Amino acid sequence: MKFFLDTADVDEIREWNATGLLDGVTTNPSLILKSGRDIKEVLAEICEIVDGDVSGEVAATDYDTMLKEGRALAQIASNICIKLPTTLDGVKACKTLTGEGHKTNMTLCFSATQALLVAKAGATYVSPFIGRLDDMGIDGMELIEEIRTIYDNYDFETEILAASIRTLNHVKDCAMAGADVATLPPSTIEKLVKHPLTDKGLEAFLADWAKTGQSI
Ligand code: G3P
Repeated sequence: MKFFLDTADVDEIREWNATGLLDGVTTNPSLILKSGRDIKEVLAEICEIVDGDVSGEVAATDYDTMLKEGRALAQIASNICIKLPTTLDGVKACKTLTGEGHKTNMTLCFSATQALLVAKAGATYVSPFIGRLDDMGIDGMELIEEIRTIYDNYDFETEILAASIRTLNHVKDCAMAGADVATLPPSTIEKLVKHPLTDKGLEAFLADWAKTGQSI
C-alpha cells in the first residue's frame, strides 16, 4: 500500500519525504487555507520535493471552469494530479482531462456507485472518505471493501486512495481491504511506528547492553 501525506505543509512534507517512505501528497482547499500559501506556489514547491503524484484540487463546480482550472494546475508540474469533486460535472471533467493524458483524483466519494462511475470515466484515483462516513454512524471501511470488489470484478485500473483517515485501525483495515493508497495527516503517519512495548523493550535492551561494557 502506498502512503500519501494529506497536507500542504512543506516542512512536514520535506521531513517525511526524507524517510524514503512517502509515495505522494494530497491537498484540498481546506489544507491550502491552513498553509496560508498561494495554491500554485505551494503546489510547485511540493512537486519539487516529492517524486510521486501531488493532488491539487479545482475550486470550480461547473464543467468548463473545472477544465480551465484543471489544465492550469496541470501546468505546474508533471506530477500534478487534478483533484475533482465527484459530481456529474466533475465526472465529465475527469473523462475529458484523463483523455488529454492528465492524472485525476476524484474526491468526496461516499458511495460504491460514485466509485463505479469515476472508474468508468478513467480516473487515476478515487478518494473514498472513511472518517466522514464513520462520523455519520456508517462504516466507512465497508465502502473500501465494496469498491475493491467492484474494481476487481471489472479490472478497473483506478486506484483506491483511502482518505479522511483518522485512526491506526483505519490504516490497518484499509491495508486488509486492499486499498491501493492511504493518505494520512502527519499526526497519523507518525503514530504508525509507535508502540509502548517497543519503547519499553528497547529501554531494557539498552540498559543491559550498557552493563556489558561492549561496543560494536
Ligand atoms: O483529503 C481529504 C481528507 O483526507 C479529509 O479528511 O479528516 O477532514 O475528513 P477529514
